[in-house]
Amino acid sequence: MKIAMASDHAGYALKRFLSQHLLAAGHECVDYGASTDAQPSSYVPFAVRLSEAVAAGDPPFGVVICGTGLGISITANKVKGIRAAVCTDEYMARMARQHNDANVLALGARVVGGGLAASIVDAFLAEPFETGGRHQARVEEIKDVERRNFR
Ligand code: RB5
Repeated sequence: MKIAMASDHAGYALKRFLSQHLLAAGHECVDYGASTDAQPSSYVPFAVRLSEAVAAGDPPFGVVICGTGLGISITANKVKGIRAAVCTDEYMARMARQHNDANVLALGARVVGGGLAASIVDAFLAEPFETGGRHQARVEEIKDVERRNFR
């Protein structure tokens, strides 16, 4: 699967580690920046570029990483069509897909180590959305909110 990756400087090393992990598992990674951690960078433009691509459906999923996962997920969620979820364990990652149909996984490089982050990404990518039930109805409600509040 093609997976979009983005980070700021704080998430750069974990992004590279996870990209290697995903490549080894047969996925393709598309990097939307940052391209270095040599100096501090804002997560905002990278999150927006990734989110616009994911919202358009190509790639279908994204992984965004900053120090906490918070700033970059808040930014991603400002793009119409993005449901970004910060996850700190595999259970949250499974529920983000199963119940919320999240299309962007957010991670905090200062919160989770590489091994746990890799397990979280794997859980996120493996879990299908539970279609046809109350969770689909909730996601449709979220989309209604978007339609009312986004251009
Ligand atoms: C950078 O120091 C840090 O503030 C950023 O990576 C992120 O954690 C913000 O939410």
